[in-house]
Amino acid sequence: MSSPLILAKGLVKRYQGRLVVDHIDFEVRAGECFGMLGPNGAGKTTTLRMLTGLTPREGGELSLFDRFSDPAEAEVHRRMGVVSQEDNLDDDLTVEENILIYGRYFGLRDGEIRARVEALLEFAQLVERRTHAVRALSGGMKRRLVIARALVAAPELLILDEPTTGLDPQARHLIWQRLAALKAKGTTLFLTTHYMEEATRLCDRLMIIDGGKIIAMGEPHALIRHHLEPEVVEIRPLIPPLDRESFSHLPGRIEQTGDTLYCHVQEAAEVMDALRGRRDLICLSRPAGLEDLFLKLTGRELRD
Ligand SMILES: Nc1ncnc2c1ncn2[C@@H]1O[C@H](COP(=O)(O)OP(=O)(O)O)[C@@H](O)[C@H]1O
Ligand SMILES: [Mg+2]
Repeated sequence: MSSPLILAKGLVKRYQGRLVVDHIDFEVRAGECFGMLGPNGAGKTTTLRMLTGLTPREGGELSLFDRFSDPAEAEVHRRMGVVSQEDNLDDDLTVEENILIYGRYFGLRDGEIRARVEALLEFAQLVERRTHAVRALSGGMKRRLVIARALVAAPELLILDEPTTGLDPQARHLIWQRLAALKAKGTTLFLTTHYMEEATRLCDRLMIIDGGKIIAMGEPHALIRHHLEPEVVEIRPLIPPLDRESFSHLPGRIEQTGDTLYCHVQEAAEVMDALRGRRDLICLSRPAGLEDLFLKLTGRELRD
């Protein structure tokens, strides 16, 4: 196997004495899509910022492209595209100018950048918007432009911090398509997301972090199989509130959020049979997924 593009060992970061990234080890392998999931404040952005050189790491070792330990190296900068959590486009410039200016940071000549702009605009489905000011774009268009801009120097590795947060489903699906196309062409992806569907669709491997620590790592389906019963039955009363007592006979591991019960079992049919004739309930059975895993490992309490 070829060496990983990122190898991180014991990464540490504190803010005001508080550990926000707590000795984490992981690798991002060539050609894969690696995901980082975690509740707000888990340390995802801080981890990415240490990899991209936006914030210094306090401890730990980093090997980038099997050669560099310092993300500030010009070669690292060229080979690693970055899509930050906030869109940091220049609002007063046009779509095209944003790509042009960004390309100059990599030492590319204007002619080289212009030769790439067409393909980047097509990739981002922004050809018709090329001369529009960025301030007039929708959230989805801005996000696509930030991604296209990050590709200007044709990086091997693209790091994306919440690429689709806040977008409508259409915009999100388009970005998923574009990221899948990039990966199919050999670009390695490392992304954070709050959307479990995004992680399920795109990620070959992922890690879940919480409180600055890695709490799970592996292939999504292997993690689900390892940590969870295969099926879930969701049970809701037609008219709330839920009468918890009337479910004490149900098999499986039961969790409650508000008026919904989540019954985790080997076979959903067992639960459905036990509830036959209960016309006061809405019951839905489905396979266990990444969201169930995430909630099991990070808890159901709200994080702000
Ligand atoms: N520049 C900073 N100064 C102080 N605290 C920070 C700073 N950046 C992040 N933090 C804190 O570090 C923790 C992790 O933040 P972050 O990496 O942004 O989490 P995530 O991206 O997973 O939501 C949070 O508690 C956040 O408030
Ligand atoms: Mg973040």
